[in-house]
Amino acid sequence: MSKRAGHMNLLAMINNGGHHLAAWQHPKGQAGAGLNIQNYTHIAQVAEKGLLDAVFIADVVALWGQDLEALTRTSRGEHYEPLTLLSYLAGATQHIGLIATATTSYNEPYHIARKFASLDHLSGGRAGWNVVTSVVGAEARNFGRDAHYLHNERYERAEEFVDVVRKLWQSWEEGAVIKDTKNSQYFIPEKVKNIHYKGKHFSVEGPLNISRTPQGEPVLVQAGASESGKRLAARIAEVIFSPHDDIKAAKKYYHDIKTTASQFGRTKESIRILPGITPVVGKTRQEARDFF
Ligand SMILES: Cc1cc2nc3c(=O)[nH]c(=O)nc-3n(C[C@H](O)[C@H](O)[C@H](O)COP(=O)(O)O)c2cc1C
Repeated sequence: MSKRAGHMNLLAMINNGGHHLAAWQHPKGQAGAGLNIQNYTHIAQVAEKGLLDAVFIADVVALWGQDLEALTRTSRGEHYEPLTLLSYLAGATQHIGLIATATTSYNEPYHIARKFASLDHLSGGRAGWNVVTSVVGAEARNFGRDAHYLHNERYERAEEFVDVVRKLWQSWEEGAVIKDTKNSQYFIPEKVKNIHYKGKHFSVEGPLNISRTPQGEPVLVQAGASESGKRLAARIAEVIFSPHDDIKAAKKYYHDIKTTASQFGRTKESIRILPGITPVVGKTRQEARDFF
């Protein structure tokens, strides 16, 4: 992600059938809907050519909607697992960032640290993690729970989760892998450390089973709107999606995040806050209106 002052950051959020729920039914949309990997590849390559910072894949670990009848009329009934999809897109692109969503409510830190480290390695340092705590009740029922964690509980777990993931990413020091064929030594053991973590929600010995990544730590992304959500975002995220579409609320959000971040010893410049837009592209204003 570019952090140059005065430079705007632009991300493309790729949905499997367009942003509008009925977009897959548009005559120009059908070929792109669903799991069509050529469509994802095309969008990622166009975004890269247009010098966007990253592509972003949202996720829910359940069917994306409660009402089956309504779902049958959208293309949201199926979607790729984001890390798998972005591993593919890493091979089809050269420099654009690759941000995958993964929930801290229905994962374990070791799995997540390992998967994002793998994406960062195989993409040459382009991985980002959108840290979510899950919002859809059905996700809980896919992971042995009758109901979702309570709001505060899920953010408490998320804070601890991210801390453990970061410790795992740091468990391999820079320069640990030496691949010294003369002395038959692949890595230096003193540079690879257990983390011996024991907390309220997690107990992880470490170290990670993959070396320090090109970025050291993949970029952390968050979009909390509640007090506990904003606290997590302000504490850990480099990129924050602003959930507001009116300027007054957006300004307050910006102010709250940056103030809380400074309480965590972070600089204002270390965080980029990105509001969402839905552009309709045409050669002329009229062409864009007609398309819509
Ligand atoms: C642009 C954007 C993308 C988001 N993507 C996801 C997602 O992929 N999966 C998910 O479970 N939540 C997603 N969320 C929800 C947020 O993580 C968060 O739960 C929501 O903004 C409500 O805030 P709160 O959790 O602090 O109450 C997204 C929110 C925004 C604004």
